Amino acid sequence: MTAPRNIVILTGAGISAESGVATFRGPGGLWEGHRVEDVCTPQALAQDPELVHRFYDARRAQLAGVEPNAAHLALARLDAAWPGNLLLVTQNVDDLHDRAGSSRLLHMHGELKSALCPACGNRIAWEDALPPETECPNCGTPALRPDIVFFGEMPYHMATIEAALAQADLFVSIGTSGAVYPAAGFVQTARHYGAATLELNLDPSEGSLWFEESRMGPAGTLVPAWVDAVLG
Ligand code: OAD
Repeated sequence: MTAPRNIVILTGAGISAESGVATFRGPGGLWEGHRVEDVCTPQALAQDPELVHRFYDARRAQLAGVEPNAAHLALARLDAAWPGNLLLVTQNVDDLHDRAGSSRLLHMHGELKSALCPACGNRIAWEDALPPETECPNCGTPALRPDIVFFGEMPYHMATIEAALAQADLFVSIGTSGAVYPAAGFVQTARHYGAATLELNLDPSEGSLWFEESRMGPAGTLVPAWVDAVLG
């Protein structure tokens, strides 16, 4: 293959693990005894809004105590220096890629530091706890919710992501278990359009066999080394 020009990178919870943010499916992946799949649903929000809001309030509050690690910083360095197209798609709802300085970045599963009005679609930057029945400042409906894509809802920015995958020469997946679609299927889409595929993960992901190359280890070591190689 000639040198890649168009790069799409997918990240998951593993890239933030060395910053101290717990992954979903590893040790510590349970929260108050609940699986994430049981809390992050529209049904849970309707039946027990206190529980769902408390879950996200705890995760939002945790952000004040964590910092981007070497992997986030390396991807921001690549973003700043890469002359071709580059799109960083994260499944993470933390703000560590943003704080590291990545700008060509899409949060496909939403963001902890954003609140969404389900009535009017208004989005508001949100730093503190978000109690249930908080009124939307735009339309007044008392139903602001975390701006997070729940299980069963459509991830954000899918048309842009699919267009980038169709143009990609290289697709790199970092720190994700490959358990949640549609992100888990991006490797197959990228391959279909002819991209080279690389996985950087602590353990083989569920989709590991789809990748041409897999490197196993901590993101804080693997990602800076990969970025150094790509930038020559
Ligand atoms: P998971 O918790 O499912 O997977 C984390 C992956 O990171 C695993 O494959 C680990 O082996 C790997 N890992 C752990 N520590 C690592 C390290 N230091 N360096 C590199 N890799 C490491 O998290 P996701 O795949 O991101 O969705 O989960 C996908 C989605 O499921 C999340 O976005 C979330 C969750 O439900 C929503 O909230 C909508």
